[in-house]
Order: sequence, then structure tokens, then C-alpha cells
Amino acid sequence: MHRIQILTISLAAVMVIGIGGWGVAEEAEDTLCIPMGAITLEAPDGVEVQRAEVEFPHSTHFNFNCKECHHTWDGESPILSCATAECHDLTQIPEGGFKSGEAVQYYKSAFHDACIGCHKEIKVRNKELEKSMASLKGELQRTGPTGCTGCHPKE
Ligand code: HEC
Ligand code: HEC
Ligand code: HEC
Repeated sequence: MHRIQILTISLAAVMVIGIGGWGVAEEAEDTLCIPMGAITLEAPDGVEVQRAEVEFPHSTHFNFNCKECHHTWDGESPILSCATAECHDLTQIPEGGFKSGEAVQYYKSAFHDACIGCHKEIKVRNKELEKSMASLKGELQRTGPTGCTGCHPKE
């Protein structure tokens, strides 16, 4: 009984601190709004698009570390858009091709490398597991689309 009382008191203390912290956080504008469900990813303005926009199921990916994709995030500051200046802000392949290290600045390469890259990696791992019969042990991991229309549905 005694132990339960102490637990209750300390929980109450945590709640007060929690609520206090919440109020302060709102004033200091350091709350993080996380888009749930799907985020529509589309080509930047000025690009003559060849494919339909992509419905990216954000929260389906929350088994991964946020920093797997938000790789410059420090865990506290606001999360930057992928198209932030000098990140993945190139909207087309420059005439004469990319200079060294520039390719990843091209938004399309950045998305394709990250999105298709991870889905493919899982597929390859699953193939190896299937060969080693690990599939019988239920170790195969679900993965996302690697074919074009899996992400860009036919319009
Ligand atoms: C598989 C990749 C991936 C993972 C994992 C991921 N996100 Fe995202 N997230 C995205 C993409 C892509 C966008 C859209 C960015 C854009 O529009 O430039 C986004 C957008 C956001 C935004 C809005 C940013 C803005 O521009 O306003 C927030 C906030 C965010 N994510 C938080 C999180 C948090 C927190 C986690 C971990 C729980 C997480 N994300 C995990 C890919 C991911
Ligand atoms: C780090 C690995 C990883 C990255 C990066 C990643 N994905 Fe995925 N994606 C997955 C996995 C794993 C699944 C399967 C999740 C499930 O079904 O539980 C998935 C599923 C999906 C699905 C299918 C969801 C469904 O309901 O069937 C789509 C569409 C998708 N991803 C799009 C994207 C796009 C677009 C990006 C880039 C912005 C991206 N993914 C980046 C791992 C990743
Ligand atoms: C895992 C998801 C995914 C797959 C698979 C995928 N893409 Fe994309 N692609 C994207 C994302 C995200 C963007 C950036 C948002 C946008 O521009 O729609 C993009 C952009 C593009 C663009 C530039 C924008 C445009 O419409 O002109 C082209 C072209 C493109 N993809 C073609 C393809 C082709 C061809 C394939 C198959 C070989 C393919 N994509 C497979 C996610 C994917």
C-alpha cells in the first residue's frame, strides 16, 4: 500500500511538470506537428511532369527511425522540407550534366535513391532469406513498391 502511494505521488508530479512543460513548449514554438496518413509528393513548380504525383504513406514508415529520411534533423529543431535551398533543390539536370556531388541535389534522384533504394534493399534481403529457407521462420519483411506505377499511379 505504502509503495502504491509513493508511485501515485510521483506520477502526479510528472503530470504537473508535463503540463507545465506543454504550456511553455507552445509559447516557445517548439512543438512538432507530424503529418499522419499520406503526404502528397509532387514535382517542384516549373517541372514539366511525366508522371502522376506520389501519395506517400508517411505513418506507414514510422517503424523506421525518423532520421533515416530526415537525415539532417537534430531531433529538436523543425524538420526541413526536402526541397530546402542547397538540399534537394535542383529541379532539373543542368546542361552538361551534374558536377561532382551534385546529383543528390536533384530532387528526383534524391527521392528515387531514398524511396526505391530502401524498398529494393528489403526485396534483395527477402530473396536471400527465401533461398536460406528463413521464410519458413517468418522473417521476411514487408516492403514498398519498386515498379513505377506502384508510386506513380496511371492517370
Ligand atoms: C521513409 C521516410 C520518412 C520517415 C521514416 C519519416 N518521414 Fe517525415 N517526411 C518524409 C517526407 C518525404 C516528408 C515530406 C517532406 C517534404 O515535403 O519535403 C516528410 C514530412 C515530415 C514533416 C513535415 C515537414 C514539413 O516540411 O513541414 C514532419 C514534421 C515529419 N515528416 C516528421 C517525421 C517524424 C517525427 C518521423 C519519425 C517518427 C518521420 N517524419 C519519419 C519522410 C519520412
Ligand atoms: C528505410 C526504408 C524505406 C524508405 C526510405 C521508404 N520506404 Fe516506403 N516502405 C518501406 C516499407 C518497409 C514498406 C512496407 C510497410 C508495410 O507495409 O508495413 C513501405 C511501403 C511503402 C508503400 C506502400 C504502402 C502500402 O500501404 O502498401 C509506398 C507507396 C511507399 N512505401 C512509398 C515510399 C516513398 C514515396 C518513399 C520516399 C519518400 C519511401 N516509401 C521511402 C520502407 C521504406
Ligand atoms: C517508391 C516510389 C517511387 C517509385 C517506385 C518510382 N518513383 Fe518516380 N518519383 C517518386 C517521387 C517521390 C518523386 C518526386 C515527386 C514527384 O515529382 O512526383 C518521383 C519523381 C519522378 C519523376 C520526376 C517528376 C515527373 O513526373 O516528371 C519522374 C519522371 C519519375 N519519378 C519517373 C519514375 C519512373 C519511370 C519510375 C519507374 C522506373 C519511377 N519513377 C518509380 C517516387 C517513386
